[in-house]
Amino acid sequence: MQTETQRSSSGNTLASRVPRLEIRHLVRQFDGRPVVDDVSLSIMPGQVTCLLGPSGCGKSTTLRMIAGVEMQDSGEIWVDGKLICDTVFRVPPERRQIGLMFQDFALFPHLSVAGNVAYGLRGGKDEKRARVVELLERVDLLQFIDGYPHQLSGGEQQRVALARALAPRPRIMLMDEPFSGLDNRLRDGIRDETLGLLKEEDTAVLLVTHEPEEAMRMADEIALMRDGRIVQQGAPYNVYTRPVDRAAVSFFSDANVLNAQVNGALAQTPFGQFLAPGVPDGTNVDIVFRPQHVKIDFDRAGVGPLPTPTDGVAARGTVVRARFMGHESLVEFRMDFDDKILKVTVPNVFLPAEGRVMWLTIRRDRCFVFPTSR
Ligand SMILES: Nc1ncnc2c1ncn2[C@@H]1O[C@H](COP(=O)(O)OP(=O)(O)OP(=O)(O)O)[C@@H](O)[C@H]1O
Ligand SMILES: [Mg+2]
Repeated sequence: MQTETQRSSSGNTLASRVPRLEIRHLVRQFDGRPVVDDVSLSIMPGQVTCLLGPSGCGKSTTLRMIAGVEMQDSGEIWVDGKLICDTVFRVPPERRQIGLMFQDFALFPHLSVAGNVAYGLRGGKDEKRARVVELLERVDLLQFIDGYPHQLSGGEQQRVALARALAPRPRIMLMDEPFSGLDNRLRDGIRDETLGLLKEEDTAVLLVTHEPEEAMRMADEIALMRDGRIVQQGAPYNVYTRPVDRAAVSFFSDANVLNAQVNGALAQTPFGQFLAPGVPDGTNVDIVFRPQHVKIDFDRAGVGPLPTPTDGVAARGTVVRARFMGHESLVEFRMDFDDKILKVTVPNVFLPAEGRVMWLTIRRDRCFVFPTSR
């Protein structure tokens, strides 16, 4: 059987477009419940894709199938245009040239740090030693080269595990929350260092995380997963600014929601009208917006700012809480119109007193209108 992918991988002009890793329609059920439900993805050499989603949505199960330690019920896995696993044919895990860095990584306790990192390496003694030194330098652990795992902190052990996974220069690297045990200060450095190494080697990376900030920082592409399915996929900017639904907004940041009903392709709210093109009359919609896209104005003897096309109508609220968060302040307002609490963030320090009356407007071009789903 020759497929389109194989044909293109043999021709020069198309060769660079062959994904390093491609999964097609992967399905895995446990006790009759689909935990991974028709997941397809492709990753080019040197590309980092983040599988992002809440706990239990099927991220690790997807990775385990690609690694070959879990069998799919249906679907195919392709590497460099070659089928490596479907429901009848299966390349064993150790022959897939896939590097693994899992949540529950374990070092070999009886091997030194150098021994652990050299574990998957082939070649002469000097060659192996040079690679071990190079990697330990990159993860900033060269001083522990002759130490043993029990002498290292949890974070240091994790960095050794990372060096071990990177050492054989895998074609594909599967990483399951590999930075979760590191403190913030270390994490940023190790993350960037790791990405640098993987990009240099043209490795395709599938990185699992449930932290949006980590995904935004690391990913060329984000695949947002929920209940076993990929609900949205694209560059971080696109996924953040063009979310597919209300849950996709909330996953990345706090979200405020107004409820309204559509009439003549418009949703009427206390903040004025919102366009709802193509939504039938009578449909209930959620108008979703992030706290950083609300503008605050002072109250002038009971009067707020005049309506504008970009910001709509102002609505009045009372400060119930204001907190300084470091690079921004978070202010919560109880709105006059229905006692709803809205969250607003303001750069730097803005700490109005509780009980103060202010006017809010919402940037029209930053709002999302979705049919209400319950
Ligand atoms: N071997 C198994 N037998 C039965 N159910 C399983 C098995 N492995 C996973 N599951 C179930 O499948 C679902 C998805 O698990 P998975 O580990 O893939 O989630 P995850 O997205 O990695 O979550 P987390 O972010 O918490 O690690 C969970 O509900 C889990 O209980
Ligand atoms: Mg997991």
